[in-house]
Amino acid sequence: MSVESSVRAVTTLRLTEMKQRGEKIAMLTSYDYSMAKIVDAAGVDVILVGDSAANVMAGYETTLPITLDMMIYHARAVVRAVKRALVVVDLPFGTYQGNSKVALDSAIRIMKETEADAVKLEGGAEVLESVERILSAGIPVMGHLGLTPQSIHKFGTYNVRAKEQAEADKLLHDAHLLEEAGCFGIVLEKIPAALGARVASELHIPVIGIGAGGGVDGQVLVAHDLFGITQDFSPRFLRRYADLHAVMSSAVSSYVADVKSRDFPNEKEQY
Ligand code: KIV
Repeated sequence: MSVESSVRAVTTLRLTEMKQRGEKIAMLTSYDYSMAKIVDAAGVDVILVGDSAANVMAGYETTLPITLDMMIYHARAVVRAVKRALVVVDLPFGTYQGNSKVALDSAIRIMKETEADAVKLEGGAEVLESVERILSAGIPVMGHLGLTPQSIHKFGTYNVRAKEQAEADKLLHDAHLLEEAGCFGIVLEKIPAALGARVASELHIPVIGIGAGGGVDGQVLVAHDLFGITQDFSPRFLRRYADLHAVMSSAVSSYVADVKSRDFPNEKEQY
């Protein structure tokens, strides 16, 4: 890839311009080459190599077990496929909290080993030092507030966050802190729509919601949920755009039946 072509069409600057002109931003997860190719070609603006890979790719209950090496494996596959979208990679649990030098080292590994465009991490004031240190190395950072799945053991549930005034005030304060630090965008997960709209209207950087209502600057979903591959996850905010679970199950059943009945392979399907 030449120096010129290594810069993808969607940049962090372009996202800010989209917010300024009121154009909504479409963001979706991907974790592998084939899916990222489809997602990118279909016009998604930002591809998130989310640590939700822990759930949908590896089958873990929470996002906590996924490692930096695993995230790097997924991100490399995605980056190889993507021509247009901005690629953002989640810093996994334990690679940025508490020690900003560790945070910087983790972010540098992601940027060097995957050639992605940016990193995302969860939290506000608690991780500000890490955010600032990563930014000081010229690495774009996206924040993530509201329901932050890496803190599930603190929350105890995946219910809507920031319904109480004190938590809403902290979220708003954290959003401003992240913007002032230099984050290029923020994800807001599962919070009241009115709060999402307020954060988006007060901030100059794009605010992308997942279960944060329609008043934010863009939306993000987990691709496996959008495609209807996952079955046991039906939060109110999720719109399924396909039923790939049914399509794939039926395809596999037909294949099994054809093999058993000796219908596959036929004359034309062999050498
Ligand atoms: O890991 C992920 O997929 C995410 C989205 C839910 C925003 O962080």
